Amino acid sequence: MSTASFHELVRQRRSVRKYLPTPLSNDQLKEVLEDAQWSPSNCNIQPWQVHLVSGATKDKLSEALKAEHLAGRTSEDFWFDHAGYEGVYLERMMHMGQKRNEALNIARDDQARRDEEMLRQFEFFGAPHAALLFMPVFGDSVRTAGDLGMYGQTLLLSLTARGYAGIPQTLLGMHAGVIREVLGVPEEMKMLYGISFGHPDPEATGYSVNLGRAPISDNVRFYD
Ligand SMILES: Cc1cc2nc3c(=O)[nH]c(=O)nc-3n(C[C@H](O)[C@H](O)[C@H](O)COP(=O)(O)O)c2cc1C
Repeated sequence: MSTASFHELVRQRRSVRKYLPTPLSNDQLKEVLEDAQWSPSNCNIQPWQVHLVSGATKDKLSEALKAEHLAGRTSEDFWFDHAGYEGVYLERMMHMGQKRNEALNIARDDQARRDEEMLRQFEFFGAPHAALLFMPVFGDSVRTAGDLGMYGQTLLLSLTARGYAGIPQTLLGMHAGVIREVLGVPEEMKMLYGISFGHPDPEATGYSVNLGRAPISDNVRFYD
């Protein structure tokens, strides 16, 4: 693969929040999963346990997730501490929310539309597939979670390279207990996040936004 095409691939990948219902074929699914399997991990332990839902199982899970969400219940395995973001991190989160609402024409005070969009998270944004990423627990789980992050990006880039799209969703992990119950996942496996994916809806432009990135000087310090 040339450098130019990789340069484009990483910039083309977007979190897409609207999909066509058309599923990927079994061969297509296998191809992206085989790519993702090449992700690096600490000591090559490959700790990702992927529960891939489609069809009736996905619909059943969606109903259970929506019911939990509407009842205000959560059953996460890992905290999501976004309320603690401050400084530049808070600014970037606010920027993301603003750009997303602008793209979808959602006014600041339009709670009904915001609630509607939130509910779509638990419909996997209309995607025909969702990969729910579980892992075994070792110590404080940070290294293993890093491995699952590696897996997620490889899967997302594979989807993008093949003309599909995906979106990582921590929000699915907020209902880890329900997902474990519906799918019969063993108690000792903990869920970090999910990735909904499929064919992006080409007409749904507002559902994927170019958020840009900070200059590398914000994140990288050079030493000679
Ligand atoms: C681990 C992880 C979890 C995420 N969880 C959610 C989520 O629950 N819901 C959502 O709408 N977006 C979620 N996102 C998508 C981010 O908002 C998105 O990656 C970020 O705003 C940058 O946009 P881009 O992916 O389009 O470049 C998540 C991203 C990552 C990496």
